[in-house]
Amino acid sequence: MQSLLDALHSDALNELTSIRQLSDLDSLKTLYLGKKGKLTDILQGLGKVSAEERPRLGQIANTIKTDLLTRLEQKRDELQKQEWAVQLQKEAIDTSLPAHRLAIGKHHPINKTIDDVVDIFTRLGFSVETGPDIESDYYNFEALNIPSDHPARDMHDTFYLNTGYLLRTHTSPVQIRTMEVQQPPVKIIVPGKVYRCDADVSHSPVFHQVEGLYVSKNVTFSQLKGTLEHFLRALFGPEKSVRFRPSYFPFTEPSTEVDVACVNCGGNGCNVCKHTGWLEILGAGLVNRNVLKAVNLDPDVYTGFAFGMGIERIAMLRYGISDIRLFYENDYRFLKQF
Ligand code: DAH
Repeated sequence: MQSLLDALHSDALNELTSIRQLSDLDSLKTLYLGKKGKLTDILQGLGKVSAEERPRLGQIANTIKTDLLTRLEQKRDELQKQEWAVQLQKEAIDTSLPAHRLAIGKHHPINKTIDDVVDIFTRLGFSVETGPDIESDYYNFEALNIPSDHPARDMHDTFYLNTGYLLRTHTSPVQIRTMEVQQPPVKIIVPGKVYRCDADVSHSPVFHQVEGLYVSKNVTFSQLKGTLEHFLRALFGPEKSVRFRPSYFPFTEPSTEVDVACVNCGGNGCNVCKHTGWLEILGAGLVNRNVLKAVNLDPDVYTGFAFGMGIERIAMLRYGISDIRLFYENDYRFLKQF
């Protein structure tokens, strides 16, 4: 019987060395050590062996079984590692290959400019307000000290709607709407679309403005100057010269137009600044007494400043764009440059 056991041992070991696949390993295990396997077969003969021999043979059978199990596991490890190595090789990734480029969206230069302008003012404590694009004559003109016979109306090229309403020609009506519902101090910045019947390389029938308003007690012109100087240098560069020229708006008194040194030539004179060295950026002034009266604020108690600017013009200057229509054509070749 011992020779049968020894033969089984060496046969099994022989077959084990020739195994190349994990699946064959299980078959081998069943063949030799399974319930109906070769070892069980041999051990069925134990009954015929003498009582003295039986424990010794049993022990040999056990040793063989343990040895085979250990080697089977070793072989399993070995084959598993080989299999993984092959798989890794097959699935290897060449990390030096260029990746697929993701198409990343960009901010539209108009939105970017609005965001930048609004950011500068929110850092100064202004909060954002908005108003409707369809306005009444009252908010767009009357309450802003522009009565129906006022010559300033001609400058606005208004789109009238047949219901007595119009498309707002500026963001200034939001001054009135806000002061009607908020007590001073009112400190707001108002981005939005405005509409005028006008179109060429620098005018679009729809464009964007940002309006500002600060109303409180003892608001002064020097506060307006300081605020706008800070704003223009934050937007165009810290060293930029800023100039205030006297001007006229019905809703402010006194009124001013504010210029920065030309972004193109720095002030020497070029085509962009029409050889003046200056670029007009803002209209502004102290809130007219009539405007305060229109919202039932006592102009002897409250004062304020207001300002307004066109976003397209600022964006064109910032990015060196010469035709306003490029902003609205949604040409990807244009948009992707920002
Ligand atoms: N509303 C004026 C416009 O469209 C711009 C403006 C000028 C707004 C002076 C103001 C201001 O608030 O004070 O053209």
